[in-house]
Formats: sequence, C-alpha cells, structure tokens
Amino acid sequence: MKRRGRHSGGAQTDMNEQHKRETGHSDGSAPEVCRPHATASLDEAQLLDTQRAFDSVAVDYDGPRGNNELIQRMRRILWDTVHGEFSNASRLLDLGCGTGIDAVEFARCGHHVVATDWSRQMVERTQARIVAESLRHRVTVTHLGIHQLDRLGDGFDGIYSNFGPMNCVPDLGAVAVECARLLRPGGRLIFSVMGRLCPWELGHYALRGRLKRAGVRAARSATAVGMNHHTIWTQYYFPREFYRAFTAHFSMLEYRALSLFVPPPFLVDYYRRHPRWYECLGWLDDRLGRLPLLRDMGDHFLIVMRRR
Ligand SMILES: C[S@@+](CC[C@H](N)C(=O)[O-])C[C@H]1O[C@@H](n2cnc3c(N)ncnc32)[C@H](O)[C@@H]1O
Repeated sequence: MKRRGRHSGGAQTDMNEQHKRETGHSDGSAPEVCRPHATASLDEAQLLDTQRAFDSVAVDYDGPRGNNELIQRMRRILWDTVHGEFSNASRLLDLGCGTGIDAVEFARCGHHVVATDWSRQMVERTQARIVAESLRHRVTVTHLGIHQLDRLGDGFDGIYSNFGPMNCVPDLGAVAVECARLLRPGGRLIFSVMGRLCPWELGHYALRGRLKRAGVRAARSATAVGMNHHTIWTQYYFPREFYRAFTAHFSMLEYRALSLFVPPPFLVDYYRRHPRWYECLGWLDDRLGRLPLLRDMGDHFLIVMRRR
C-alpha cells in the first residue's frame, strides 16, 4: 500500500512543488492533503476511488513516482526474501502487481506467477511488460482485487505483495482466510506493508508545522490519501497488528523494518543530494532493521508468514 499525502477538503493550496514530490502512497508520488475523517471499513465506492487513483498513474508508474532509487532499494529486499524462500519453478501469486516489475523478476528466475491487480490500467501495463519480455509462458495476468481472491483456484507455493496493496483491502481477516485456502501447507506469505510509525515522515511534517499530516498514519481506520488528485483509501498497521488477522492460519517467521534510517521514497531528493551518506543509513537499515522495537518502525515493514 507502500509515500503519502492526503486528499481533502481545503488545503489543496499547499500543493506546492515540494509537496508534489512527496509521496502519497507506497511510492514516490505526490502527497496531497489529509481528509479530516477516516472510515471504519472500506466500502465499494472507496475501493473504486483507489482503483481510479492507480489507474490514473499507471502510465508513468515506472518513473520516479513508482520506482525511484529508494523504492528500488526496498524492492530488492523483497526480491532477496522471495529468492531465499522459494526454489525455482514455484507457483507464486502476486497481489497488487502494479506494472509487473516483480512478476518479471520472479518469472525470469523460473517461477510461474499469477499477477493480479485491482487497477485495470496497471494490469494492462503488466501484460505489456510480460509480452515485451517474452514471459507469457510463465506469467498469467488477471484483473482482480485482493478482496476477490475467492475467484482464484488454489495450489500456490507462495503469495507476495509489494508496496502496500495490503493496506488497501477492506477486510484483512477475510484475505487471510483466502490466502490460507490458496496456499499449500507450509506455503509462504511475503508482504511489504506500510507501517504506522515512520520517524522520517513524522519529523518531516512536524518540523513544518503540519501536525495533522504528521499524524495521519495513527488513524485507527482507513484514511484518505491523495495521489494525482485522486484518493487512495489506506489502512496503516503495526506489524503485530497486521499479523493478528493471520494468526489462525499462519505462523510468523520474521518481520523487519524497511526504510527506517533511510528516508521514505517521497524524500528521494535528500538521497540524491548525498547518496553516500544515505547508503550508510541503508547499511544501518540492513543491520538493525530486525531488532525489537526498531522493526516496528519504518516506512514499510516486510513480514514473512508460514501456512500452518
Ligand atoms: C504502490 S502500488 C505497488 C505496485 C507493485 N506491487 C509494485 O511493487 O510496484 C499498489 C498497487 O496495489 C494495487 N491495489 C490497490 N488496492 C488494491 C486491491 N484492493 N486489490 C488489488 N490491488 C490493489 C494498485 O492498483 C497498485 O497497483
């Protein structure tokens, strides 16, 4: 669901150039302003808002908005984790595949991937990428929301989801039940999810006096995040809070912080000014991001679970 700005009632005037660079969702996209309200559970209209938001950015999502240096850094960590968990020719399900970058990576390594997304435009981008890469024999692309997993057949070795699609689903418990049905016993879930406590984001907005924006991840329920003048309805989680929805069918293998010392993708300009410094911070992320307390913070967290 990776990042985030808000959509709202009034304050669109502070959409200056700086804000346009700040990310709205788990990407390097522009933040807008926070709506004053959140919602207890996502309804159909809100799912459609989110779909329209991602449809509207699909065409350039491989650029700075969806694939800048800091996003790539996080992406490599999910790749390494998937490579470590699955032998070649595993059957993998990608939830919220975006433009298909991950699906291509895993298909090239010999896996068979079913790539799904709720945005039809994203699905078309993935389809085009798969054709261009001559990987049609390894990847099936399907227009499907995570809330529609009951339409898929089972038999997967693993399910992954990168950069926040899991933050956009109405009922995480129902998703957990479907994931359990889709996976063979011992199968793995590997998700990167937007966390509740991102010190960089908190500090960035608090120092600018934007206290409401600074606290947006604290909302108890789904909250409106602006992207490209559309709204993404987003629910943020602490890792253990997220895991609670999965405990009946899955055991936790590990979780770690992503972009804790390294800034979140919307602050990529800091990184570009001093890449060496920020590589040192990346080193800290890799060494310390699994430690108790630290692993509960960061722009995203990466969580690995095992089907019981
Ligand atoms: C931040 S992008 C990440 C895309 C991709 N996983 C990547 O790594 O680049 C989030 C993706 O989740 C998709 N998404 C949002 N809500 C969804 C839902 N309910 N079901 C499936 N996909 C969803 C969006 O369309 C978008 O492609």
